[in-house]
Amino acid sequence: MSLDHIIIQGGIPLKGTVTAAGAKNAALPILASTILGGGECLITNLPQVRDTTTLQTLLGLLGASVKTDEGRVAIDTTALQSTEAPYDLVKTMRASILVLGPLLTRFGEATVSLPGGCAIGLRPVNLHLDGLRQLGASITLEKGYIHAQASKLQGGQITLEIPTVTGTENLMMAACLAEGTTVIDNAAQEPEVVDLASFLVKRGARIAGAGSNRISVEGVRQLHGAEHQVMPDRVEAATYLMAGAITHGDIQVDQCIPQHLEAVSRLLQSCGADISQSHNTIRIKTSSRLHAVDVTTQPYPGFPTDLQAQMMAVMSVAEGKSIIHETIFEGRFLHVPELQRMGAAIEIDGARALVQGASTLTGAPVMASDLRASAGLVLAGLAAEGETRLSRIYHLERGYERMVDKLQGLGAMIQQRAAWA
Ligand code: EPU
Repeated sequence: MSLDHIIIQGGIPLKGTVTAAGAKNAALPILASTILGGGECLITNLPQVRDTTTLQTLLGLLGASVKTDEGRVAIDTTALQSTEAPYDLVKTMRASILVLGPLLTRFGEATVSLPGGCAIGLRPVNLHLDGLRQLGASITLEKGYIHAQASKLQGGQITLEIPTVTGTENLMMAACLAEGTTVIDNAAQEPEVVDLASFLVKRGARIAGAGSNRISVEGVRQLHGAEHQVMPDRVEAATYLMAGAITHGDIQVDQCIPQHLEAVSRLLQSCGADISQSHNTIRIKTSSRLHAVDVTTQPYPGFPTDLQAQMMAVMSVAEGKSIIHETIFEGRFLHVPELQRMGAAIEIDGARALVQGASTLTGAPVMASDLRASAGLVLAGLAAEGETRLSRIYHLERGYERMVDKLQGLGAMIQQRAAWA
């Protein structure tokens, strides 16, 4: 875990081209799905971030063969023996819950530590567990662990109360090897769910409707190995677009899928940014101060909660007032006190933040609290006058590949320093 910090000298308009990495939130379920067995899977465009490393460590711990080579990993879970995901690992990454469905459906049992508290909200996993129960699993909670059992899962009808992303993924994976057909209603429609489904289909799974709110999965006896390139990271791509917006720069993001970012592009355009796109690039140009707009986070295709902190940084220097309504996670405003330290005028009213755009922010020492909050603070630092020092950047390293290098490539004065420097 890196205790380094980042030093930013703000106020430089960023210019140039940056390439999007593979999507962390697609890579994680894809890695977990290799547990379903069927021979070697080769996964490429794997983002080099701590969360994907953690999941590979977990697979190794369960007994999988994991051979990594810069952005590619070959995984074979044929010899996998353990069905237990231990607390020490799960506590470092909640997405470890993604191994529950695959372990249970392949081995008839799974023991996964119950993910604990989280900085951005309560984040329970009750919907994952209820869905698995509907497929015939018996589930108990004991000494901090989820114990799931089912000699053979049976297809069934599941209606999710909330379109949970990892819940949909867990259930879709579990249904692949269940007996009969499973229908998941009110399913998450995120592109990452579609990417996972397309990997599973390459391996022989029978899945229809991924990307809509009704997914149906016809169980098969077994899957086979396949190669898959992870989709581009839409949250990372949009974070760089917002870095362009907040510094009044001119940035092109290559190897992204503009269609995944329609809600974000529309919002940035309505603030006054000039956005153009080709089939796999987006360019943003901003020459004058943006004007404030209201933002409401929503499940896909709405504006993502994973970009709320970054957008709040952009709004904190826009002209006018913005209301930012966080509807997905109740605690996802930990960046607010830090932005206030940089001079942002923000008031919290329940799930809403009222942002009065300031003409400028000032650099300050600030602290990261979670992954996307850290990204918001980096953006604020890029726009602020003077020096910002961001500590606890291990949060950033969970999900942004080489962010400091990429921003340097766009002309930012940003450096990573050791904790004691
Ligand atoms: N929820 C429940 N019960 C459940 C599951 C979810 O009440 O069993 C609630 C959550 O508490 C939350 C809402 O449903 O209020 C939506 O949560 P969801 O389950 O969709 O979130 P997640 O699957 O745990 C994924 C991403 C998050 C992203 C959210 C929302 C991964 C690995 N994580 O989390 O990504 O914010 O969807 O889009 O895919 C990040 O990358 O920084 C990150 C937090």
